Amino acid sequence: MRAFVAVRVERDHPLSALELREGWPTPEAGRGQVRVRLAATTVNMHDLWALRGVGVRPDSFPRILGCDVVGWDPDGREVMVTGCFGDPDAGEGDETFDPKRSLISEDLPGSFAEYTVVPARNVIAKPRWLTFEQAACLNVAWSSTFRLLFTRGKASPGERILVQGAGGGVATAAISMARAAGLHVTVTSRSEKKRLRAREIGAHEAVPTGERLREPVDLVVDTVGAATWQHSLRSVRPGGRIVTAGATTGSDTPLDLPRIFYRQVSIIGSTSGSRADTLRMLRFMEAANLRPVVDSVHPFERIREAFERLQHPDLFGNVVVHVSTS
Ligand SMILES: NC(=O)c1ccc[n+]([C@@H]2O[C@H](COP(=O)([O-])OP(=O)(O)OC[C@H]3O[C@@H](n4cnc5c(N)ncnc54)[C@H](OP(=O)(O)O)[C@@H]3O)[C@@H](O)[C@H]2O)c1
Repeated sequence: MRAFVAVRVERDHPLSALELREGWPTPEAGRGQVRVRLAATTVNMHDLWALRGVGVRPDSFPRILGCDVVGWDPDGREVMVTGCFGDPDAGEGDETFDPKRSLISEDLPGSFAEYTVVPARNVIAKPRWLTFEQAACLNVAWSSTFRLLFTRGKASPGERILVQGAGGGVATAAISMARAAGLHVTVTSRSEKKRLRAREIGAHEAVPTGERLREPVDLVVDTVGAATWQHSLRSVRPGGRIVTAGATTGSDTPLDLPRIFYRQVSIIGSTSGSRADTLRMLRFMEAANLRPVVDSVHPFERIREAFERLQHPDLFGNVVVHVSTS
């Protein structure tokens, strides 16, 4: 099969370690696994971190990255794959809490290839009301965001939410879902153009990054990390919650413990989405008529352009890679 293989860790020029290989061995499904033929996938920060060697062992290369799997099962059914491989019984009923859980592309090959194999439990039907390109945005960006907002963050109607950053897959999903769920949504962005786009997809207010808010919020979603963390702490009301689920600008920032305990702020971590999160999210999306924001679609052969777009300051939404039409 054709595959883009990550051949080594490359801290400074990560894309130079991504090589197109013809005739790469097609994976065989083992017991309890299903082989999926890829229709589309996305590129994400997680892949760039892995290419730079963050959270991966250098001896695990060469390997296939890519965390969104949509395509066809061996019977030709249109399927998508939920992104956390784990045992719900080992995680108090939630596989994302299984200490041995892994994400797509960690223990099994990822999605930058014509075929991959995944646990059968993670394969679900792709809804007909989503195109393959739209469905490809749903694991990394949307399921994780559904979980961080509702399962972990306990967002509820009438609350005020602050979303840090306007352009990424998580931020665009958070704006759309929080608005549809009846929250008052404020977004920060360094770019005027993106603040405008954020309002178009549902934000009530969009302010420059770091600007003091008119009133504190009940819940903050921070995946930007060091660059916005102090602003997140300053923006949440006493007794409010901050969900942290990423650190695009790094994690080296003071935690400010006195502010957290004196103002009784809850800091909540969130990673990935469970199968149950994804199924509930799909019902929510259908009921509220929500669709992911697709920034751009790139042919498989030009996956490097997709990664360049992912790092472009104008990025707004998800960067999709088209693998096969049928
Ligand atoms: N825990 C999980 O399950 C999970 C799932 C998905 C993603 N993630 C993580 O979440 C993070 C977000 O990923 P993403 O792909 O949605 O978006 P992203 O491309 O990493 O960008 C997120 C936002 O960061 C802001 N930003 C970047 N540099 C900044 C700076 N120097 N100062 C202020 N803001 C800055 C940008 O805001 P503006 O340009 O609008 O200012 C951008 O909209 C990543 O670190 C990713 O690894 C975690």
